[in-house]
Amino acid sequence: MQPFGVDINLQTGEMLEPDRIVVRRASDMQGYYADADALEQLIRRGDPIHYEVFEKPVPETPGNLMYCISKLQPGLIGDEFYMTKGHYHRVRHTAELYLCLRGQGLMLMKTEEGECVAEAMARGRLVYVPPSWAHRSVNTGTEPLVSFCAYPAEAGHNYGDIEEQGFPKRVLRVQGEPQLV
Ligand code: F6R
Ligand code: ZN
Repeated sequence: MQPFGVDINLQTGEMLEPDRIVVRRASDMQGYYADADALEQLIRRGDPIHYEVFEKPVPETPGNLMYCISKLQPGLIGDEFYMTKGHYHRVRHTAELYLCLRGQGLMLMKTEEGECVAEAMARGRLVYVPPSWAHRSVNTGTEPLVSFCAYPAEAGHNYGDIEEQGFPKRVLRVQGEPQLV
């Protein structure tokens, strides 16, 4: 493997010429939000993009670092702010760095023991997700929530546990303000 460089626009968070783009639409989020009817309506109204992950993948082997740009659109499903699916890493004892480049939101994190913590995300703020903590980003603002993420390349993703259990808390708009409920 040879060294390489990647151009990222730090104002917009755009990665130039990504090799892979993971696209999650509203229809990929079935089962995640409290208000299933509101999600169905959005799917019927054109099934818009919910979030995207831009990558230039490296080999998923120990010693490498995987990195990407995560871009989550703003919006509400009923009273619940748009969020990512969330996951544990398949190799549980692997951490992750999220450096927020744009937008406003929360990083919701939980352990298998049920501890749940939310950290604020805003431009210039770095959130450290420790090993063994599941993580989900939530966009509480009016523009896309964009972060640069980096984590051990062998970490992999386990979505099934969160799909079944969810998180102990949801982020809802209550009287116009984000609130953990
Ligand atoms: C990678 C990571 C992020 C997320 C991205 C989308 O380990 O945590 O790059 O993959 O924010 O969220 P998920 O993967 O939960 O759909
Ligand atoms: Zn992760």
